Amino acid sequence: MTISFEKEVKSRKTFAIISHPDAGKTTLTEKLLYFGGAIREAGTVKGRKNSKHALSDWMEIEKQRGISVTSSVMEFQYKDYHVNILDTPGHEDFSEDTYRTLTAADSATMLIDVAKGVEAQTIKLFKVCRMRGIPIFTFINKLDRQGKEPFELMEELEAVLGIRSYPMNWPIGMGLNFKAVYDRHNKRLELYNHKNPSKVDIIQVNGPLDPVIDETINDDSLVKQFREEIELLDVAGDQFDLDLINSGQLTPAFFGSAISNFGVQTFLNHFLEMAPSPVPRNSNEGIVNPLDSNFSGFVFKIQANMNPAHRDRIAFLRITSGIFKKGMNVNHVRLGKPLRLAQPTQFLAQSRNNVEEAYAGDIIGLFDPGTFRIGDTLVENGSFEFDEMPHFSPEHFCAIAVKDALKHKSFEKGIHQLTEEGAIQLFKTYQKVVEQQIVGVVGVLQFEVLEHRLKAEYKVDVRLERLPFSYARWVSGDKKDLEAFTRTQRNLVKDRDDRLVVLFENDYQMRTAQDKYPKIKFFENSFIK
Ligand code: G4P
Repeated sequence: MTISFEKEVKSRKTFAIISHPDAGKTTLTEKLLYFGGAIREAGTVKGRKNSKHALSDWMEIEKQRGISVTSSVMEFQYKDYHVNILDTPGHEDFSEDTYRTLTAADSATMLIDVAKGVEAQTIKLFKVCRMRGIPIFTFINKLDRQGKEPFELMEELEAVLGIRSYPMNWPIGMGLNFKAVYDRHNKRLELYNHKNPSKVDIIQVNGPLDPVIDETINDDSLVKQFREEIELLDVAGDQFDLDLINSGQLTPAFFGSAISNFGVQTFLNHFLEMAPSPVPRNSNEGIVNPLDSNFSGFVFKIQANMNPAHRDRIAFLRITSGIFKKGMNVNHVRLGKPLRLAQPTQFLAQSRNNVEEAYAGDIIGLFDPGTFRIGDTLVENGSFEFDEMPHFSPEHFCAIAVKDALKHKSFEKGIHQLTEEGAIQLFKTYQKVVEQQIVGVVGVLQFEVLEHRLKAEYKVDVRLERLPFSYARWVSGDKKDLEAFTRTQRNLVKDRDDRLVVLFENDYQMRTAQDKYPKIKFFENSFIK
C-alpha cells in the first residue's frame, strides 16, 4: 500500500442527504456543489433562480454527453477532501432505489425543515441509516423563517427517531428576528445579515457570557434566552462524543438557512472533519478493508434509459477497496466470469470525463448490457461477495398480467429484467392453485414506469390491478409456528428468492397478526436475522 493510495482513500467522504420533500435538499446540494466549485453561481446573494440556472447549465452539459446523471451522484473536490454526494430521489421519484442508495453511503446528512420537524419520508430513510449504523449529521434548515423551538426539535428527534443530538451551533432568534448562530466549538458568533445573508460576519467571543454578545445582538431578552439555553445544553445536554456519533447514536446538529447560504459552509467544514472516510464492509469471507489494494465493489443501483437514444443501462458501483483502473479485469462473482471494465463513467460535476482511475469510496458507472443485478460483487482477485442487498417493504401493490397471452415470454423476460434492476419487486402468491404475480413498489410512479418500459422495451401490454396492501413483511419463525401461521393467514406471497412474505392493508391488521403470533418475527426488509 502506497502513501498516496492511503491518502486518496482517506480523503473520500461519501454521503447521502436524507429529507422529506421540500425541506431544501436541492437548495443545500446546490450550495455544497457551489463551495466545491462544481457549479457556477452568479454573485453571492442570489436567490434560487440563479442557482437553478447554474444547475440547469450543468444538466445541459450532461445532456450533451448523452447521459443525465445529475440525480445520482455528485462528486467534487473541497479543500483536501474528495466528496461524493449520493442523491436520494424524494418527490415522485421516491423508490426502493432511494433506500438502496443509502447502502453505498458512509454517512448521511439529515435535513430538517425547522417549521415542520421530522417528517414521514425522513423517518423511512433514517430507519435505513439506523439499520446500517452509519453516522448521521443533522442540518436544521430555514432558520430565516419562524419555526419550532430548537429544544422542541431536539426532543422530536429523540421521540420520533430515537436519536439524541448534540447542537454544534445554537440559533439566537429565528425568522424575522434571526440574529446569529453561536458556534459552540469555536466559541464564535456568526451573524445573520437580513439584507445580505451570505455575507456572514464572524465575531470571536470568550464564551456565551462575553459582553460582546450583548453589544452585538443588541436585544436583551434574546441574549438572556440564549444564555439560559446554552447553560441548559451544557449542564443537561449530551456531551460531544465522537464514538457515539460514529455509531449513529448521537447526531451533531447544525442550524442554518440553505437558501441564504447561511451556516452551510460551517456545516460543510465540520461535517467533513467528522464524517468517516470509506468504512470496511462485510463479505462472506470476512471484512473487506477499503485500504486493501485488491479492487472490489458492489452494484447498488441500476438506472435504465439514461440515454433514450441508446436505451442503455448504467450500473452504479460503489468501490469498497483498492484502486479502479480503466480497462482492468475483474471477476463478476455471481456469474463466475471475468469482466473487462472498459468504459466506465465517473459522475464528476467538474470534469465529466470517462474515469481512468478511482478509489475506494468512489462511485463509478458501468455500462450494463444486462450483466448486472443489484447487489453484484466485482473483485480483482478472489471470489468473495458482499452482504446481500436488502429489499425494503413496498408500499403499493398491483396484480400484473400480460394482456396478450402469446406475449408471455417477452413479458416474463421484461419483468425478470426489471426485477433484477431493482425497479420493482415481484411476488408470487403462496398458494400454487391460483398463482398470481404481484408487483410491489415503494413509489407509485414506478407503476407507470413499469408499464411504459414493458411496452417500449419488450413490446408487451400489461394489465395492472391495484391491490389494497400497504405493507410487506418478511417473516421467520420455527417450522411449527410458521405452519400454524401460514394455515391461518391470508395474503401470503413469496419473494423472488422464495422467502415467505405477508401483505397487510394497514397498520391495524399488521399489529393484530403480530399480537396473535408473538413467536413469528416480522421484518420490514429482506434482511431476516
Ligand atoms: P427539496 O429538494 O428538499 O424538495 O427542496 P428544495 O431545495 O427544492 O426547496 C423547497 C423550497 O424550500 C423551495 O421553495 C426553496 O426555495 C425553499 N427553501 C430551501 N431552503 C430554504 C431556506 O433556508 N429558507 C427558506 N425560507 N426557504 C428555503 P419553493 O417556493 O418551493 O421554490 P422556489 O420558488 O424558491 O424555487
